[in-house]
Amino acid sequence: MISNLKYMEGVQSLKDVDVTGKRVLIRVDFNVPMDSHGNISDDRRIRAALPTINYCIDHNACSITLVSHLGRPKGQYEERYSLRHIQKRLERLLQKRVVFVDNFEERKDEIATCSLERVFLLENIRFEPGEKKNDPELARKLGSLCDVYVNDAFGTSHRKHASTYGITDYVDTKVAGFLMMKEIEAFSKALEKPMRPVTLVVGGAKISSKITLLKSVMPKIDKLIIGGAMSNTFLVAQGYDMQESFYEEEYVPTAREVLDEARKHKVKIYLPVDVVITNDIEHPIDVKVVPAQDVLETFKAVDIGPATVKYFSEAIGLSNTVIWNGPMGIYEIEKFSKGTFKIASAIADSYAYTIVGGGDTADAVEKAGEKENFSFISTGGGASLELLEGKILPGFEKLDRKEDAATLS
Ligand code: ADP
Ligand code: 3PG
Ligand code: MG
Repeated sequence: MISNLKYMEGVQSLKDVDVTGKRVLIRVDFNVPMDSHGNISDDRRIRAALPTINYCIDHNACSITLVSHLGRPKGQYEERYSLRHIQKRLERLLQKRVVFVDNFEERKDEIATCSLERVFLLENIRFEPGEKKNDPELARKLGSLCDVYVNDAFGTSHRKHASTYGITDYVDTKVAGFLMMKEIEAFSKALEKPMRPVTLVVGGAKISSKITLLKSVMPKIDKLIIGGAMSNTFLVAQGYDMQESFYEEEYVPTAREVLDEARKHKVKIYLPVDVVITNDIEHPIDVKVVPAQDVLETFKAVDIGPATVKYFSEAIGLSNTVIWNGPMGIYEIEKFSKGTFKIASAIADSYAYTIVGGGDTADAVEKAGEKENFSFISTGGGASLELLEGKILPGFEKLDRKEDAATLS
């Protein structure tokens, strides 16, 4: 029996098909971090998709349609999540004009016509209510735009959405892009036979979508370090009053289950012992370091404290594989970035095989000046955690398979 990772490596890639004269639709993940002025703060995810897009341009695809989401809009238009914000950067990086399409159905014929303006960027696909529901009608409409479907959205490959999953039912040729293949190869190297101890460092703010899968990674890891808003939920589960800190009440029982599961598998858990707190994130004048048990009334925990940095760093130094997703605090604000940047350096300085994943975490690593010092920087956050869980990611599941590729038995 082959492993799920090997199964995913067995999909056909863009190199296995001929795109000349074909209409190609590429699902990319342009969900990039933006600053408070709406500027792209890290364009890594756009740059990571360029090899696939350029390959289609250079091999004379008839039209290239790029589909992505940005942020988490609720199935309708919201200006701040428009992919128009991405168009200019993409044009600069591709050195090519990109035609923005706000209503793809109306411009279907244009997309089918071969022309010199061959790269189309569709508006945020999550403005369509059917995207997240994996609606077959939306999947069919998207499928009708192309002859070849290329999934290169590794960061979104853990989602069963119309543009990442359902669309494969309506296209004859469906393959993985170069980013998908590169990511899966790097993870296979790290996860097939990892050097133990394996340490997973998690943080960030996407608690609901990540906390549940922490339960199932226990057999794969030896230590679990938890920081950022994620740790607030765990500290509440430990009985601490986190006051105004961001955490998810609904997931406190899940945090308890994660802790129980860790005990069962003898996984060591590391939670913050001190935290940086403020009563005003926008105007952080009153900022203090307190024990995690002593968050002051009206204050919120916004970063891990110096004692925690030391405690986490020592555990990281004793690991042979470190996988990191999720910043340790609100790293976008300078005063609350120390914990994240110091943990980035601790991981970078370790002698372990180090993988970091996630749009914001990769941005933080870059800002910490440590991007050259990681073994691999993945574009996937939630996706990399689901890989660690051992799942076949939906984005790979229904792609064409190489003729000699083994199937699961
Ligand atoms: P990634 O994009 O790397 O997968 P997430 O999107 O899950 O990571 O989380 C990143 C976000 O988490 C950042 O915007 C950061 O400001 C936020 N964050 C981290 N710690 C805290 C905290 N203590 N309180 C509020 N937000 C936090
Ligand atoms: C990410 O940033 O992790 C991906 O783009 C997926 O976004 P999602 O968690 O909103 O599905
Ligand atoms: Mg993020």
